[in-house]
Amino acid sequence: MHIDLMERAGLLMLLLVASAACGQQADTIRQYQFEQAGGGYALAIKAVPRPVAGDHEVLVRVHATSLNHRDLNMLENDYGDDFSYAGTIPLSDGAGEVIAVGRGVTRFRVGDRVAGIFFEKWLDGAPSEDALASDRGGNAGGMLSEIIVTHENGLVSIPEHLSYEEAATLPCAALTAWVGLFKRGHIEPGQYVLLEGTGGVSVFGLIFADALGARPIITSSRDYKLERASEMGAVGTANYRSNPDWHLAVREATGGHGADQVLDVGGRDTLAKALQILAYGGHIALIGGLGGYGSDLPTGALMWINATASGVYVGSRADFEAMNAFIGEHRIRPLIDRVFAFDEAPAAFEYMASGNFMGKIVIRVGPSKVIEK
Ligand SMILES: NC(=O)c1ccc[n+]([C@@H]2O[C@H](COP(=O)([O-])OP(=O)(O)OC[C@H]3O[C@@H](n4cnc5c(N)ncnc54)[C@H](OP(=O)(O)O)[C@@H]3O)[C@@H](O)[C@H]2O)c1
Repeated sequence: MHIDLMERAGLLMLLLVASAACGQQADTIRQYQFEQAGGGYALAIKAVPRPVAGDHEVLVRVHATSLNHRDLNMLENDYGDDFSYAGTIPLSDGAGEVIAVGRGVTRFRVGDRVAGIFFEKWLDGAPSEDALASDRGGNAGGMLSEIIVTHENGLVSIPEHLSYEEAATLPCAALTAWVGLFKRGHIEPGQYVLLEGTGGVSVFGLIFADALGARPIITSSRDYKLERASEMGAVGTANYRSNPDWHLAVREATGGHGADQVLDVGGRDTLAKALQILAYGGHIALIGGLGGYGSDLPTGALMWINATASGVYVGSRADFEAMNAFIGEHRIRPLIDRVFAFDEAPAAFEYMASGNFMGKIVIRVGPSKVIEK
């Protein structure tokens, strides 16, 4: 084929432009950021410089992320703080693959399968103020990004039987349920466990309680979700919308014994009723405020029955590792309601706002290999 000088020059230009374009693509990644919109925020997709791993840092190619109620609260500027989330990368939860390590990294190698911990700096023991200010998707950058850079301490290995989508559901909701039941509540087989609603925390509570041989009882505003929960191991159910005395139905399901464990996610809507049906020596984990935070906690309700209440704010890396050991031992799989593509992130938030889901909502970020079961 004959190519004259002009054509050669044209071809060279084309090649240069193409390679420059390729270089630029390799140097940037896509990530979402909260952008001010009216009284709340919108999800804006940005091209940002590809991060580089510094000393003791790790680059993670994020394969999947999951939503928690907190993320929706932030989007709607309804999180109960005056912090500006403009420019924050959303979502605390995500899992992916280590693609580069900086100097001095000893905990991970390229190719490792990892999840970010909720508080990047809360490793063990009681949290410090500094550790609690390292919450991903809030004060620290979140996971809704093709690649993240993080200190090697801010990651855990994920259970080998889980896909990236499944592992991405663990850092917040699962760990909160696990700490509430196991670390604080010292749950035992045979105990009655009250779970409120069928969102992320509660469904993990159901799955964990069932795996241990405890007896979960769950509430919901929708009967079809209660049917599904029964199939998953709930020994009792109550519709809190059609039955304002749902707590009495829960007590009846325990044969009058009451709930030994409660994961209270409803707050003002549920706490007073849950306390009325707490068993002698029971434990109530104060977790959420779906019906608003800030209910009175009558001391007598706890004292006369020798019960305990604990405030739970997710957990540490050590807690996450202990939970993963339990998940691995019992081959536990999370309940994923729906998986959205990266470009559909706004639709995933809308789906959470609709309340038409059960368990977890996932956003896939990169190609993900499902591990054989
Ligand atoms: N302290 C912590 O560390 C921590 C950690 C995680 C979450 N949280 C908090 O815990 C709460 C739950 O979080 P999540 O991510 O599990 O929520 P989620 O997945 O968004 O769960 C929403 C579901 O909860 C149920 N629900 C809504 N309002 C309710 C009410 N007033 N009473 C009972 N159930 C209600 C509904 O289930 P049905 O459709 O079945 O009715 C709804 O679909 C939120 O307030 C969140 O901020 C706290």
